[in-house]
Amino acid sequence: MSGDRGIFIVLEGIEGSGKTTQAALLGEWLEQLGVPYRLTREPGGTELGEAVRQLLLHGGSMPGVTELLLMLAARSALLAEVVRPALAAGEVVVADRYSLSTLAYQGYGRELDLAQVRRAIARATGGLTPDLTLVLEIPRPGGEARRVAGRRGEDRIERAGGAFHERVVEAYHLLADTEPQTVRLDGCGEPASVQARIRAALSRHFPETFTGKAG
Ligand SMILES: Nc1ncnc2c1ncn2[C@@H]1O[C@H](COP(=O)(O)OP(=O)(O)OP(=O)(O)O)[C@@H](O)[C@H]1O
Ligand SMILES: [Mg+2]
Repeated sequence: MSGDRGIFIVLEGIEGSGKTTQAALLGEWLEQLGVPYRLTREPGGTELGEAVRQLLLHGGSMPGVTELLLMLAARSALLAEVVRPALAAGEVVVADRYSLSTLAYQGYGRELDLAQVRRAIARATGGLTPDLTLVLEIPRPGGEARRVAGRRGEDRIERAGGAFHERVVEAYHLLADTEPQTVRLDGCGEPASVQARIRAALSRHFPETFTGKAG
């Protein structure tokens, strides 16, 4: 648990699974409900984090452990500057990626030692874990098709190759079942249908905040 008064919600899933789209729709709902909220994305969300994002997504090649530490450097700044203050103020934080991404991409994808990745995450986050992580599940070809239809080019991590991405997909399947406070949701179908599933899950988990107004 976050240990603060707010609620820390994370959207996870492979590229094109709809995290950013669904975070925006969730923001609209929170707006309607009159619930104060913050949207964050990783890597990024602070001045330092956005500079690190450029290096990570558009820079040259780097060792896996460098990638891990840059991701976590950005996250530690985001937590200090944005997430912890928002939670302390009682807000709902909706994060587009968090530690499940680190385990999936740097742990499984880059094949770093998982125990070390977990220790590094704990160091960077001070042990702050989400109240709920929602994993949006779509088949990988579906994510690719969405990216191409959206005419977005590949970033450095998306260019990492088929075997890398196979490991990431498998990791999400595994982690969705084994990580605490984590649920999988069907990410297929129209954005509004996916959003309805997200709202239903939030109403179920946090009835006091999301007062049964799902859909
Ligand atoms: N349910 C959906 N059906 C069809 N297209 C969608 C759906 N949700 C999102 N899209 C489109 O697919 C593309 C990828 O969606 P989005 O950017 O939300 O995914 P993402 O998980 O944030 O991806 P990334 O990890 O690359 O940031 C966008 O062009 C978006 O408009
Ligand atoms: Mg996105």
